[in-house]
Amino acid sequence: MNLLEAVWVRRSQRTYLPRPLEEVQREQLGKALAECSRRSGLHLRLVCPRVSPFAGQGRLKGAREYLLLAGPAEDPDLEEKCGYWGEELVLTAAAMGLGTCWVGGTYDREACLAQLEPGETLVCVAAVGIPEGSPAPRPLRPAGELALLTDSAPAWFDAGIAAVQRAPSAMNRQGYRFQLRPDGAVQARLSGGGSFALVDLGIAKRHFQLGAHGGVWTWGDGGVFHKAAEEKSCGAVIWRPAGEGREYLLARHNGGHWSFPKGHVEGRESERETAAREIWEETGLTADIDTGFRRVVTYSPGPGIVKDVVFFTATPAGGTERRQEAEIAQLGWFSFREARALVTYATDEEVLLAAEAYLREKS
Ligand SMILES: Cc1cc2nc3c(=O)[nH]c(=O)nc-3n(C[C@H](O)[C@H](O)[C@H](O)COP(=O)(O)O)c2cc1C
Repeated sequence: MNLLEAVWVRRSQRTYLPRPLEEVQREQLGKALAECSRRSGLHLRLVCPRVSPFAGQGRLKGAREYLLLAGPAEDPDLEEKCGYWGEELVLTAAAMGLGTCWVGGTYDREACLAQLEPGETLVCVAAVGIPEGSPAPRPLRPAGELALLTDSAPAWFDAGIAAVQRAPSAMNRQGYRFQLRPDGAVQARLSGGGSFALVDLGIAKRHFQLGAHGGVWTWGDGGVFHKAAEEKSCGAVIWRPAGEGREYLLARHNGGHWSFPKGHVEGRESERETAAREIWEETGLTADIDTGFRRVVTYSPGPGIVKDVVFFTATPAGGTERRQEAEIAQLGWFSFREARALVTYATDEEVLLAAEAYLREKS
């Protein structure tokens, strides 16, 4: 499941099984925490305290672990950034099948303050845990109450608003309005107050961005969104049989991160053709590509750009393994467990998990 799919299925989970996250789940979430902290300047952490800060406080049952959403006290956009980046993490956890619930009021704030470092302000927390049961869907606020809708709005604007309808907010207030301006930019304004209004705005901006398929927001009440230029790459999770299971081919890119072979679509290539060409260029191998598995990871490689990366599964069919020196520092075959630990990004780990499940089902 990717983050946009998670927007559609996530709901506040208030009942949890009384057991901690598994170590592999903690590691996968840790990759997203590291990436979000690096990009946001916030200090985002997963805390597993001995005593639950939710015990006896509100409607949450069985929850103990939480995301600490905090950052530099002097950051003027701290609350909104905690909303935006916190929702990135909440959706990442939801995509992993975990239960989540934003919590701004019904928790032991004093106990959580003890986790802060000097100069940091705590904005709020989000419970994360193994869900017990699934909560009922909540009624959605009509799109027309969240945005000024017109027939001439581009499809991406309507898709962005559909994602905003599903944005969690304190007391389910959703006190904001989105407007498409004549110049094609989108403006988001608060329409009400309340203590977590800016956190809610940050969450809603991230949802809009996911629904609209990428773009750049400026911070603040009245912040503006410009739609991103779209790019596309294709690649594959390459595997071969090994013993009882499989080995996976990973590439360490010259930037330092471990991932799967992939690259930009050229000319009028099909997705399969791009994947095959990129595998050949980066690894020296020809490959049998299975398009029955297709997962899309969306991320922003730079300001104003959104990139979809389509992954298939593939097995080597010929050629001689050799890395493309301009892009790849190292190639290696790894067991599922090793590959899972090695891939740098939580999104790639999600693709690997889905590929392993697909291949296990097929064999
Ligand atoms: C900033 C913020 C603070 C919240 N605080 C609490 C809280 O203290 N206790 C609680 O049970 N839920 C809390 N919630 C959860 C909301 O009630 C919930 O997100 C909202 O009703 C929408 O439901 P959904 O998350 O299922 O879409 C909070 C949500 C946000 C965004």
